[in-house]
Amino acid sequence: MSFTHFDRRAMARALELAARGMETAHPNPRVGCVIARGEQILAEGWHERTGGPHAEVVALRALAASVGENAAVGSTVYVTLEPCSHYGRTPPCVDALVAAQVARVIVAIPDPNPLVAGRGLAVLERAGITVVTGLMAAEAEELNVGYLKRMRTGRPFVRVKLGMSLDGRTALANGASKWITGSEAREDVQHWRARSSAVLTGVGTVLADDPQLNVRLPGARKQPLRVVVDSKLRTPPAARVLDGSAPSLVFAEASALAGRSVSTWGANGARVEPCAGERNEGGAAAGARLALDRILERLGELEVNELLVEAGPTLSGTFVQQGLADELLIYIAPRLLGPAARPLLSLPLLEDLQQARQFRIIEQHAVGNDLRLRLRPV
Ligand SMILES: NC(=O)c1ccc[n+]([C@@H]2O[C@H](COP(=O)([O-])OP(=O)(O)OC[C@H]3O[C@@H](n4cnc5c(N)ncnc54)[C@H](OP(=O)(O)O)[C@@H]3O)[C@@H](O)[C@H]2O)c1
Repeated sequence: MSFTHFDRRAMARALELAARGMETAHPNPRVGCVIARGEQILAEGWHERTGGPHAEVVALRALAASVGENAAVGSTVYVTLEPCSHYGRTPPCVDALVAAQVARVIVAIPDPNPLVAGRGLAVLERAGITVVTGLMAAEAEELNVGYLKRMRTGRPFVRVKLGMSLDGRTALANGASKWITGSEAREDVQHWRARSSAVLTGVGTVLADDPQLNVRLPGARKQPLRVVVDSKLRTPPAARVLDGSAPSLVFAEASALAGRSVSTWGANGARVEPCAGERNEGGAAAGARLALDRILERLGELEVNELLVEAGPTLSGTFVQQGLADELLIYIAPRLLGPAARPLLSLPLLEDLQQARQFRIIEQHAVGNDLRLRLRPV
């Protein structure tokens, strides 16, 4: 099926609308919708927040309000994700589209959510509506990279953020790392936090920096879950990451909780959950470090779509070494810290260049005086 120039323009607009839900729609997907007749856009909609109306329903309501009932009969609907077919927090969108008697639905990508997974498209086709998928599919995948990964694998999309010097250092030998990058880069990080369902750090960073890890943008409407990976429960109860300004969750090894019936930590009642320890190749406990794959599965259960890791070289290095990092978000500051300063990631010694982990740069962008790179594993 070939698409017209107008089809692309309408879907590009639907994607633009969907992106308005970047920081508010999760754990739901970001979805946009455009209703058109011929080459004229009649109405638009987007999904703003969980529990609120879906994009298709918003657009149909807008059309009914501006033109009148039956205004969608015979129209073409452009939507960035397969319309839902199940009763969730709201009724199925496919029922609304069938009732409105639209003629064509053009969908960017199917929804891998097991509750939908092709059923939405089938309902529309059974009702005699022409359904076409695949228009601007790559852009639609990127927009919901976290939701789609969670639906397909049960785990969040993991983005590891690090600020480094020109010589690849993340802190001085004495641990000082405030601030390697400039204020613009730090503000940019706030937006990556805001679009994430959770931000995760290690106890090493909590003890060194006492970060707050919340979103401090003006008008911020949603705070990510703050997660601390802390096998021996060394996070001070007064740590800022537990300050109550956003929900917090500490993962600790069950043995660290044994004898103590801890389910909350700190004055603001941060949740503490036990997590299995990592095993080394011989099956023995590997220095009480927590099993990150278990943590990711748990965060998937908690409906975390995008996870932003803001940890030091030890924990960030483990995510990368275990192949659990889906993306690196690196800010490079034009300053030199010297070879005694801390590395970007703690990784095992390599004997051969063939063993080196390889990434491809998907984006490079100047932020103030720093350079932002986004990379994905090859
Ligand atoms: N430049 C940057 O972007 C940036 C960002 C954050 C931090 N930093 C700097 O990094 C330094 C702290 O780094 P860090 O490496 O000491 O701390 P970290 O990576 O934040 O935390 C490491 C700790 O996490 C715990 N952990 C539990 N399970 C683990 C697992 N499976 N793998 C790895 N760690 C696990 C371990 O402590 P337990 O065994 O006790 O659980 C480990 O010591 C500070 O100087 C901070 O300023 C820099």
